[in-house]
Amino acid sequence: MDTQSIVVLDFGAQYSQLIARRIREQNVFSVVLPFNASLEEIRSYSPVGIVLSGGPSSVYDQDAPHADKTVLQLGVPVLGICYGLQFMVHALGGKVRPADKREYGHAKVEIKNGSQLFRGLPKVLAVWMSHGDEAVELPAGFHLTASSPNAVAAIENPTQRMWAVQFHPEVHHTPLGSDILRNFVLEICEAKPNWTAQRFIDETVRSVRQTVGQGRAICALSGGVDSAVAATIVDRALRDEKGNSRLTSIFVNNGVLRKNEFEKVQRSLRDKLGLHLDAVDATDRFLSKLKGVTDPETKRKIIGNEFIAVFDEEAHRIEKAEGPVDWLVQGTLYPDVIESRSVRGPSQTIKTHHNVGGLPEKMKLKLIEPLKDLFKDEVRRIGRDLGMPEEILQRQPFPGPGLAVRILGEVTPERLAILREADDIVVSEIKNAGLYTKIWQSFAVLLPVMSVGVMGDQRTYAYTCTVRAVHSEDGMTADWVPLPYEVLKTISSRMVNEVKGINRVVYDITSKPPGTIEWE
Ligand code: XMP
Repeated sequence: MDTQSIVVLDFGAQYSQLIARRIREQNVFSVVLPFNASLEEIRSYSPVGIVLSGGPSSVYDQDAPHADKTVLQLGVPVLGICYGLQFMVHALGGKVRPADKREYGHAKVEIKNGSQLFRGLPKVLAVWMSHGDEAVELPAGFHLTASSPNAVAAIENPTQRMWAVQFHPEVHHTPLGSDILRNFVLEICEAKPNWTAQRFIDETVRSVRQTVGQGRAICALSGGVDSAVAATIVDRALRDEKGNSRLTSIFVNNGVLRKNEFEKVQRSLRDKLGLHLDAVDATDRFLSKLKGVTDPETKRKIIGNEFIAVFDEEAHRIEKAEGPVDWLVQGTLYPDVIESRSVRGPSQTIKTHHNVGGLPEKMKLKLIEPLKDLFKDEVRRIGRDLGMPEEILQRQPFPGPGLAVRILGEVTPERLAILREADDIVVSEIKNAGLYTKIWQSFAVLLPVMSVGVMGDQRTYAYTCTVRAVHSEDGMTADWVPLPYEVLKTISSRMVNEVKGINRVVYDITSKPPGTIEWE
């Protein structure tokens, strides 16, 4: 991409993603790379500025992350934040040591010496601090530009084009933090604020055209936001004047989709967006493989493997019918990328996630990941500019192994039919209450627990259904949602009255951790 950018080097801070986002809010493209990214990779983003993020380490720790010092000499302005300041001081010959008084939380800092970084800001700033080390000796050429009662709060060496702050301008607790980042990005780096959703679309379309040339691509659609936006943008690039697309999107019915989902997704993607869609109903294949299986991981593996088999067969069929396929489009987002490259290394596998991860190696396809630098809300914005329907853009996440991980015990056609109805009631009542877009996920889980009930004068003996609703930023952690009693009441009474096979409804009040969002 030939857009100029600000590259954020991640030293393991929980806030690095936020820095990039705050910069993109200034309409300047920003991307987070790991602290040890090669100079070549950094340069490929045409940076007009570099930000060194915070991080949990001390520069003196044995395994402290150290970036290539030449990033300080790329000739573009550098802004160090927290650990980034300490790294800069340490790397350039100054001194850092454990602070006598650790600063954590709200603090007031006093601005000195009229730094360009603080132009237009008051003399005393409310900021958020979170550090155990402090700079005690500045490298040659640096001077102090702000201090807190206990420590150095900001330093700079404008001649060498280096600025650094000890506090976190990217968090809400630093109310004027965005102004500081804006001063860095627009005034110091002189970036042009021209990065918009439309520009992203235009540039992506251009670069996909250039990369793929006259080649052919395929894509696995899940029905969710990410793969739909990725497919739509690539479809724009690979359509000829007659409207024929060299991208075929494959949508597999794995038998564990929600009520009417197979038809609904086809309607929105083929009929409304005009994607060249290959919809494959492989329900029987999946359900016969799942027969008798109760172990959660085994279910996930069966679905993952079967999916790859179906997709592979379709790809071969498409090659025969239309010509060779070299490219695979994936809707990978930034959080997916960073999780596997983060400073602390990939996190432990709690559940095997069924994505199309195994596909490219097996099928020898080259990858196109047009959304890999973005967050979900930015992807939604781009989807909106592509004219995609809100019903797709606002969809809550849904796991690849679908309802199979929400039916505890064996997945049978009978249990699937029950859960589909129950789930439909949860989703429609949450929508009726105006809560659907405010909640990360809301759904039903069917338990293999039978209990006694009474309906009319009849004794019943039927399944228990759990309602689950969680708030989350990214699915990594989650809080259960205190749904209004009225909503719970309607869901419960509708389920017991309308869904044959359920006579008891319970509400899951477990957060993540220690629970997970899905039950299996
Ligand atoms: P857990 O259950 O691990 O889920 O707390 C975290 C988030 O990931 C979704 N999820 C999946 N997404 N393939 C996916 O694409 C999967 O196999 C999968 N399993 C869970 C889950 O819905 C939640 O949003």
